[in-house]
Amino acid sequence: MAKMWAGRTSGETDKTADDFNSSISFDSRMYKEDIEGSMAHAAMLASVGIIEKSEADLIIDALGDILCDLNSGKIAFDMTCEDIHMFVEQVLTERIGDVGKKLHTARSRNDQVALDLRMYLRAQVGQIITKVKKLIATVTDKAEEYKGTIMPGYTHLQRAQPITFGHHLMAYAMMLLRDVDRLSHSCERMNISPIGSCALAGTTYDTDRFFEAERLMFNGVSHNSIDGVSDRDFCVELLSDFALLMMHLSRFSEEIILWSSWEFKFIELSDAFTTGSSIMPQKKNPDMAELCRGKTGRVYGDLMCMLTVLKGLPLAYNKDMQEDKECVFDAVDTVKKSLDVFCGMISQMKAIPENMKSAAQKGFINATDLADYLTKKGMPFRTAYKISGSIVAYCIKEGYVLETLPLEKYREFDKMFDADVYKAVDLNECVEKRRSYGATSVSNVENQIEIVRKAIK
Ligand code: ARG
Repeated sequence: MAKMWAGRTSGETDKTADDFNSSISFDSRMYKEDIEGSMAHAAMLASVGIIEKSEADLIIDALGDILCDLNSGKIAFDMTCEDIHMFVEQVLTERIGDVGKKLHTARSRNDQVALDLRMYLRAQVGQIITKVKKLIATVTDKAEEYKGTIMPGYTHLQRAQPITFGHHLMAYAMMLLRDVDRLSHSCERMNISPIGSCALAGTTYDTDRFFEAERLMFNGVSHNSIDGVSDRDFCVELLSDFALLMMHLSRFSEEIILWSSWEFKFIELSDAFTTGSSIMPQKKNPDMAELCRGKTGRVYGDLMCMLTVLKGLPLAYNKDMQEDKECVFDAVDTVKKSLDVFCGMISQMKAIPENMKSAAQKGFINATDLADYLTKKGMPFRTAYKISGSIVAYCIKEGYVLETLPLEKYREFDKMFDADVYKAVDLNECVEKRRSYGATSVSNVENQIEIVRKAIK
């Protein structure tokens, strides 16, 4: 078939070149945005008198029909078209003839594709933000359920200090809240209309870019037409937001994988979000968490792809930029699927408080509290730290824990020790006493829950 751009050239393009050049297999997912953009463009052309009002109406009605027919599956994409823009224009002219050929006045596929992509991603990011908020709500509900459940907190993956499971979960809620914030800001910066930049230099027609931008619900227009068609910063920004979000899911996944192992057994994942082994009958594998962790690498790759495609590209449009879509689309799909499965997995996850508690009772995670006990009685912290360390060493050697070491023994280390030392090293006390802002006590965690719930309202 003759190319829409045939004119300068008349020779046939090679089949391999056609296939290589074609983007309809992946940019067809922007059909709705492409059609909505074209409707606004036709309306703008009529509003400034470049085409007749009756012509614009005809174009807009036909575009509406095409949209319905694509939505319902009545028509399918023609894979011989180079891209979605060519396809829509082709169907339009088939249906309304020459009037359809007026639509592409005062625009280019260069500004058209930039427009479509911004509109498409705007909608997708909206959906992703909703999913992240849903996950935050789920994590926060879990945190509320386990706000009094004591577990060991770790540094260097070594038992460090007593915390609650609720406190630990709320750390993830805070991370995810920043993701929402980042995505919203990136989306706001992205919501600028490039349409009307045309091929690169603007146009000799008396167009109204502001009319089109407003109709398509953009917050403004790009101020430089060359930048308008060359800019893909919004893709890089979103991909980096996605990479960060996936990194958060990946760290969470790693902990879920550890916690569900026999070595920890702090949690039990629901059967609905685990798999078995084809050979080992006892296995219950945390595949969903592992896949989220694995797919994080994939999204990092999408970000690297985008950055590398853009590096060294001269202004303005270059065909290299067609490579922007598959990586962003892949990241969008991956992030959405990961969030869905993650949310389900967390909502059905159950903690095993006894195991958390018994792990917390080993590992001397109340040693800091022992030192603080002496410090509060007037001993300099460094001295108290040293004495507490010696007590821990003695306990390890003799098979005691701080809760069971006899008072006479304590007093052999220092005369400041009294019977109230047992209260000081009691794990519930250790948690409850940590009431500095943001700390692990139940009331502090309740405060964090309240803050997060308010933020996602
Ligand atoms: N399919 C192209 C893309 O995705 C659309 C823009 C093509 N522009 C051009 N001058 N060839 O980037």
